[in-house]
Amino acid sequence: MIITAIDFRENQPLELLTALHGRGEIPFKMEYLGEGADAWNKLAEAEEFDIAHGEYKLLNESVKKLFSKLGRNKVNLLYLGCGTCFKAVPLVKAAAKTHSPVNLCLLDISPTMLEIGKKNIQQKIKRNLLVETSLFDFEGGNFAHITSSLRKRFYRNNLLFILGNTFGNLSDRARILINFRESMTATDYLLIGVELAPSTTVEKENMLRRYRGEGVLNVFFNILKSLGVSRNSGKFIVNYNTVKSQVEWRFELYKDAAVRLGGEWVELRKGQKIFLGMSHKFTPAELKKLFRYAGFRTLLCITNPEKRYTLIMGQPKGM
Ligand SMILES: C[S@@+](CC[C@H](N)C(=O)[O-])C[C@H]1O[C@@H](n2cnc3c(N)ncnc32)[C@H](O)[C@@H]1O
Repeated sequence: MIITAIDFRENQPLELLTALHGRGEIPFKMEYLGEGADAWNKLAEAEEFDIAHGEYKLLNESVKKLFSKLGRNKVNLLYLGCGTCFKAVPLVKAAAKTHSPVNLCLLDISPTMLEIGKKNIQQKIKRNLLVETSLFDFEGGNFAHITSSLRKRFYRNNLLFILGNTFGNLSDRARILINFRESMTATDYLLIGVELAPSTTVEKENMLRRYRGEGVLNVFFNILKSLGVSRNSGKFIVNYNTVKSQVEWRFELYKDAAVRLGGEWVELRKGQKIFLGMSHKFTPAELKKLFRYAGFRTLLCITNPEKRYTLIMGQPKGM
């Protein structure tokens, strides 16, 4: 069996150990480490991953409206969870009309993803663009050190954006919004792109078909693979949880197994369903409520005509 080593950093082995040993879970954010970034790179712009193309189209169509909200303010672009970075293109192009240069900071938990994202955007946009990267886990707390450094060195305001429904992969979305808010001033902007909850059975089945595809499962299996678990030692269960409005991924083991992690053995039982992650689906009303709760005012909320995808932009307001 091939075991792919992942260079975990700092407390990541203990976080993984606590999740797997203590709760039977893998923190989804870790799936993008090491080879997981390559798995995502193969999927992100693939034709069958239709959600990405829908979001890109919406971004392209909405970018003028989004930038009109900035008025004369100049912004540094801070892409939270940048992935392969291709969705930054419409924003960079819009910024280039008034910004010289455009400053783009890519923030991600995965060093490999940052390398891929930086290379990709520099290939797509060759002039008037400064790109830098920040390795950071935004679930762990605020990143005011990154935003204030951008403010000091470049423009006075930041436009933070998180796309690809990454926001829906996070279990405590209110907490993450607070982390974002604590990294922002009242003249910064936050843009979030999310997928909406399916309203018909056909929509739900189409969504599940996309999420049961081999490309997606390869991303979700990255950590188990790196721990030496083989794909045929169990099966994937991918369901839509209607109560929580979320797709959930589990891996059910056919037999007992043991994996070594951070110097300890973790025993996995036959029949155990390891929780690998989820993707929450939103309603625009729910997003606005979350914004209010976390201390943001909504500046703009745009949904595509098919009612599949929404972009919401806001600003921190006084408490
Ligand atoms: C679903 S992909 C989306 C990538 C890109 N935004 C897009 O729309 O194509 C999620 C990205 O967020 C990153 N990510 C997930 N959790 C993170 C965290 N807690 N801190 C920083 N980056 C994170 C992953 O490494 C990955 O690059």
